[in-house]
Amino acid sequence: MIELAPSILSADFAHLADQIGRAAAGGGTVIHVDVMDGHFVPNITIGPPVVKALRQTTRLPLDCHLMIENADQYVPEFADAGADWISVHQEACQHLNRTLHLIKSHGCRAGVVINPATPVDTLSEVLEIVDYVLVMSVNPGFGGQQFIPGSVAKIRKLAEIRAEHEYAYRIEVDGGIALGTVADVVRAGAEILVAGSAVFGKGDAKLNAAALLEAARSASLLKV
Ligand code: DX5
Ligand code: ZN
Repeated sequence: MIELAPSILSADFAHLADQIGRAAAGGGTVIHVDVMDGHFVPNITIGPPVVKALRQTTRLPLDCHLMIENADQYVPEFADAGADWISVHQEACQHLNRTLHLIKSHGCRAGVVINPATPVDTLSEVLEIVDYVLVMSVNPGFGGQQFIPGSVAKIRKLAEIRAEHEYAYRIEVDGGIALGTVADVVRAGAEILVAGSAVFGKGDAKLNAAALLEAARSASLLKV
């Protein structure tokens, strides 16, 4: 099932509840929350107190994308704050298996994320245990960057591996997703589409979300 996950990184932080409401009215079904620590990525965003506040504004699942070092130290706090899904970067976790189990032990769905320069092969030992794999189609840290085309092949590979081994993970993509790029990632097998600037950048978040979803769904109908 195709789902749109609006990323609040590009939303107006002074009106987050309203912006989330608009994006949800346009068909967004997962709220993507970018957590950055200024170490793993060169930007600082939000932490558990904001997740806790977001929890009061929506019933939609909160998809917390942790771009941080020492994730184990913070997973319990994000879970307590109301995160439903928590993903961690393969590149930032020394004991990835342990971290994924930690996320699950807190009742959250566990996802693993790979940067554009990280091959899918590096995930071979965790694909059986993750609920979702997030393919970064930009280098993480900022919204509004250009889509990196090589991510399409990585999505396709993840879909093939899943079919071959009968794994259960879903495939999410994040970065540069807009009307011009969404069809390619959907046809390759992406199901959860993160979009920040394409939803909240300019114009109305409801109309933007609806247009993006429409484009994604027609691409999935054309899928061979
Ligand atoms: C980037 C974040 C993304 C970001 C995407 O590091 O992980 O979620 O919000 O923004 P767009 O959709 O504008 O590329
Ligand atoms: Zn993200």
